[in-house]
Amino acid sequence: MKLDHVYHTYSKKTPYQFEALKDVTLTIEEGTFTALVGHTGSGKSTLIQHLNALLLPTQGQLTVNGVSIEANKQPKNIKSLRQYAGLVFQFPEYQLFEETVEQDVMFGPLNFGMKPEEAKKRAHEALHLVGLDESFYSRSPFELSGGERRRVAIAGILAMQPKVLILDEPTAGLDPQGAKAMMSLFVSLFQQGMTIVLVTHDMELVYEYTDHVVVMQEGHVLKKTTTLDFFLTPIEGYPVMHPPFLQLLLLVQAKGIDLPFDQIKNLMQLITYLKEIQRWPV
Ligand SMILES: Nc1ncnc2c1ncn2[C@@H]1O[C@H](COP(=O)(O)OP(=O)(O)OP(=O)(O)O)[C@@H](O)[C@H]1O
Ligand SMILES: [Mg+2]
Repeated sequence: MKLDHVYHTYSKKTPYQFEALKDVTLTIEEGTFTALVGHTGSGKSTLIQHLNALLLPTQGQLTVNGVSIEANKQPKNIKSLRQYAGLVFQFPEYQLFEETVEQDVMFGPLNFGMKPEEAKKRAHEALHLVGLDESFYSRSPFELSGGERRRVAIAGILAMQPKVLILDEPTAGLDPQGAKAMMSLFVSLFQQGMTIVLVTHDMELVYEYTDHVVVMQEGHVLKKTTTLDFFLTPIEGYPVMHPPFLQLLLLVQAKGIDLPFDQIKNLMQLITYLKEIQRWPV
């Protein structure tokens, strides 16, 4: 996926005009797990909606899976584009609308012209992936818990079998266990070859799961780098919070203590464990 001098202005030529993306040139390689970070309002959600042509650039151009998306032009092959890049909005559970879970997850595949039996099969596979068994098929999405509803919404995207999965704050509002289960699912999809783009404010997720980081600031790309470099090289104008493991590592190094990496990891695991069993003042 390649963006070339992309601009996006909301409500152009009105008093509410707002330039949310400014001259964004960026490549996201296939097979990567990329974090998209930046302060609130920096343009992250605006950017990702360009990747499957939900929003079109008001200036500039991007190429996704060989399809060109240009300013003011309805792209060709929009269906294949949407199938290629599946976009999970922030709080996707608010977009469920069918009577049953099964129908909701089947909606995408049916809409893309798949036969009902095939769509059903895909829906069942996707629901299995997100950890919802057949007892959920005939339930109404509205009677589920927030976390379950989110999983149904994600299954709806997975049922399209996208090659790229774009996630806008997928763990926001979930409890730690739910968040971990959700991230494990994305990791396993990544390991099976899916490209993942994760919008997040959570530096622990960035550190633990991603391999590249794109930093947005006021509609620009401030930096694109590897995850390790993101944490180790200071970025002017964007102070990065180090996750606890890295803080400990740097602290130990700063004290001149020569502790092997593995031992620091063990120490960190111990601290995490103590925190979990609540014997540690957080
Ligand atoms: N439909 C819209 N009309 C006008 N301005 C908008 C619209 N949607 C977003 N904006 C503005 O564009 C800017 C970028 O918004 P965007 O939602 O892309 O930010 P974000 O980085 O995703 O923020 P957050 O971390 O809070 O989700 C913000 O200043 C926002 O107010
Ligand atoms: Mg956003």
